[in-house]
Amino acid sequence: MGNLTLYEAISKFGESVIESWRTAAYQSNYRLESRRYIGCKAKLVDWIFDIIESETEDVHSFCDIFAGTGSVANRAFRLYDRVLVNDFLFSNNIIYKAFFQDAPWRKAKVLDLLDYYNSINPDSLTDNYFSINFGDKFFDMKTSRLIGYIREDLESKRTNLTEKEFAIILASLIYSIDRLANTLGHYEAYIKKAITPRKLILRMIDVNNFSGAEIFQEDSNQLARKIHADVVYIDPPYNSRQYSRFYHLLENLVQWTKPALFGVAMKPKEENMSAYCRSSAFAAFQDLIAHIDARYLIVSYNNTYKSKSSSSENKIKLEQIEEALNKCGDTHIFEHAYSPFNSGKTEFEDHKEYLFVTHVNHERRDRAFSTILRGR
Ligand SMILES: C[S@@+](CC[C@H](N)C(=O)[O-])C[C@H]1O[C@@H](n2cnc3c(N)ncnc32)[C@H](O)[C@@H]1O
Repeated sequence: MGNLTLYEAISKFGESVIESWRTAAYQSNYRLESRRYIGCKAKLVDWIFDIIESETEDVHSFCDIFAGTGSVANRAFRLYDRVLVNDFLFSNNIIYKAFFQDAPWRKAKVLDLLDYYNSINPDSLTDNYFSINFGDKFFDMKTSRLIGYIREDLESKRTNLTEKEFAIILASLIYSIDRLANTLGHYEAYIKKAITPRKLILRMIDVNNFSGAEIFQEDSNQLARKIHADVVYIDPPYNSRQYSRFYHLLENLVQWTKPALFGVAMKPKEENMSAYCRSSAFAAFQDLIAHIDARYLIVSYNNTYKSKSSSSENKIKLEQIEEALNKCGDTHIFEHAYSPFNSGKTEFEDHKEYLFVTHVNHERRDRAFSTILRGR
């Protein structure tokens, strides 16, 4: 029965099938890392935390300031009392609320709504914003109509849902459509071949309520000026490829302001463009580490220098990171051979993942960055 929608199961076996359909469809919830996202550190979290735990002491608070999927923060919840999670993308923010936020939600309410969406016969739907723009591009036409219908309906029910319930359903939609997207894992482009239709079945995500969760959606450099954490983990983008452009379709689906879209990939006007993807990247990095109030800075870095396309070249060099961090305090570097998820254009021969651990000496840091700090 797992391959039928609820609609198909009811028409085949009658109403009595609802409970067993539910059990089959919802028995395995989506885990946080079951999502395609460039630069996701899910496969490296054991290595990262082995190092953090052996290199730091007396840590109670942790900030993942470029959190992406939240894979690093997700592990930090097991270890620390307070975990701050930040990313400027709307789609990541809704995912943090769904997976982490300590806020009220009713499981029955969420399942009822997912059941309703799973019971819709896509043949009964007409065109909508999502299908007009993305149909037969990123998803087949019927699936696109269903996605657009679900999102519109969810918006109309928003006032009857708690903030967390709304986030859980939207995150469940994001995780469920990721499986069907006609892409190489991001929305910069779609595969230009006829799409074999596949059924969209919504499954719930693995919801947690972490009492120590603090969720932000800010530019990291601005947030760095306001927060304190014993450990701040820094994993910015290092090349010119903007995350807000790669995941524009998810940003659009979450915000649902239905903007005009442009180009083959149907992107909206630019927003949330990162300084870390521009020639100003190193200045942004120095500004960030000059302002953060933390006892330890942990920085992830990887070498993509053998890339074929210039957009894959790193904007900050390994030596620049090392030099800047040494100004903040004693710094240790750890290396790990690793082949990441990528979109196919880049040759990751001899790919290495680096982790810098800096024990911050505030006096040394403030002296070294006095010019930057004077300007604040
Ligand atoms: C390399 S990814 C982080 C991956 C993450 N560690 C994980 O495991 O999924 C970098 C993230 O930084 C975010 N980002 C880029 N510039 C930012 C900025 N100025 N402020 C906040 N977030 C930013 C991007 O949206 C992206 O999700």
